[in-house]
Amino acid sequence: MTQDEMKKAAAWAALEYVEKDSIVGVGTGSTVNHFIDALGSIKETIRGAVSSSEASTEKLKQLGIEIFELNDVDSLSVYVDGADEINAQNEMIKGGGAALTREKIVAAVAKQFVCIVDETKQVDVLGDFPLPVEVIPMARSYVAREIVKLGGDPVYRQGVITDNGNVILDVHNLSITEAKNLEQTINQIVGVVTNGLFAHRAANTVIVGTPNGPKTL
Ligand code: 5RP
Repeated sequence: MTQDEMKKAAAWAALEYVEKDSIVGVGTGSTVNHFIDALGSIKETIRGAVSSSEASTEKLKQLGIEIFELNDVDSLSVYVDGADEINAQNEMIKGGGAALTREKIVAAVAKQFVCIVDETKQVDVLGDFPLPVEVIPMARSYVAREIVKLGGDPVYRQGVITDNGNVILDVHNLSITEAKNLEQTINQIVGVVTNGLFAHRAANTVIVGTPNGPKTL
């Protein structure tokens, strides 16, 4: 089974968490693209979606799924999204697709975060995948210097502007054993919009695509 087939298996299994007549929180990425296809197959049974990126919005619209603004929605029963890495505590690194801030906002509103990954995303310790940090453009060099003081090696993601008009620093060489502390510490640097650690809002449910089919943790 290929990695993409494992992503697809996890994504389709997440339909089980979608409530009838609900508005669904939708993440971003190649795994979520499979989930959006799956949502399309049951679109008559849901009201619509709140999206975490322009890319997901575009795909949802193409399938005829109505898009709601988060400000018009009081609560979401479920948010479904992928991850770049996930540990045994369901803490994640996200933001490989540069959508981390909107993802974190939509996830904050949802009662349940269902994370859909293939088995290659499971790790003992977070940090092999460089930690994305969304930064206000004029603060880029300052934030990079502060991150070096924390022991990381920030690399400017050239040519990428987020949906919010900001830039991304990818922080290499972190071994993240205290994810909640690091999430908070980096977010306190002036100029940081948010970072891709989802530890304070970890996943409630993880569906892992494996060669033997999807497994729910
Ligand atoms: C986008 C994300 C994605 O969830 C993460 O990058 C995983 O992507 P993929 O499903 O393509 O492997 O956080 O900002």
